[in-house]
Amino acid sequence: MYCIAPRHYDPLVLSFYPHHQADSGRYNIEGATSNIWCTVLNMNGSNDRGSLLEGFHIEPTTVEQTIALRHAVLWPHKPESHVRLPEDDSGYHFGAFVSSCDAPIAVISVFKEPLPPVIDSEQDEASISEAKPPFEAGRFRKFACDSVYQGHGVGTALLRHVFSAARDQLGCCVLWCDARLSTSNWYERRGMQIFGPVFTKSGVGYIRMKATL
Ligand SMILES: CC(C)(COP(=O)(O)OP(=O)(O)OC[C@H]1O[C@@H](n2cnc3c(N)ncnc32)[C@H](O)[C@@H]1OP(=O)(O)O)[C@@H](O)C(=O)NCCC(=O)NCCS
Repeated sequence: MYCIAPRHYDPLVLSFYPHHQADSGRYNIEGATSNIWCTVLNMNGSNDRGSLLEGFHIEPTTVEQTIALRHAVLWPHKPESHVRLPEDDSGYHFGAFVSSCDAPIAVISVFKEPLPPVIDSEQDEASISEAKPPFEAGRFRKFACDSVYQGHGVGTALLRHVFSAARDQLGCCVLWCDARLSTSNWYERRGMQIFGPVFTKSGVGYIRMKATL
């Protein structure tokens, strides 16, 4: 038996097509717009996490290839323009791919951007700028994994890839991000540390996190 999971919906909401023969993988629905992909999971007892993800790989990608996943995973209730960044053209974009599909299953984007200072009420502006670190820093943004593929190690692999790329290709010593509070524990378990206070963007709670590369 096979089930078809619309890419951007919870995989529990599935339609079953017992007579449909297909390999596990991701397919574009015939006649649909290019953003409507589906995931076909083999339900004959082999839909465990390992089999779904045999053979994913990470490679540089275009910003255009990141947009649908950024939108679906991070800001599905906002217009697509919300996930486009003015600095996208100067960023480095990476995707995780499975062989059966041209669209990435996870994406992340990296930018050269100085580590923001931690504002201390006892510091005046001059001491903050004096304290500005002299080393190169990078920031990653718009990190998203297709919900169907979450929990299989793709995000961890992509984050590690970006740590290496930022260090070896961009010459960064530090990588930082504005982490969603919901994901900050996940980052901590991967060696990132919190700096600065909690803040809110578009109704979502965030905290700054960094890692020494
Ligand atoms: C955050 C995010 C990118 C992580 O991607 P992911 O692919 O789900 O992450 P991983 O699979 O590497 O890690 C998830 C968990 O699965 C576990 N895992 C890793 N490989 C596994 C495998 N083969 N089988 C089962 N579990 C596995 C990991 O141990 C991890 O568990 P943890 O809770 O102990 O850390 C993804 O969950 C996501 O897109 N979330 C929503 C958007 C978001 O919050 N983005 C970040 C904004 S700051």
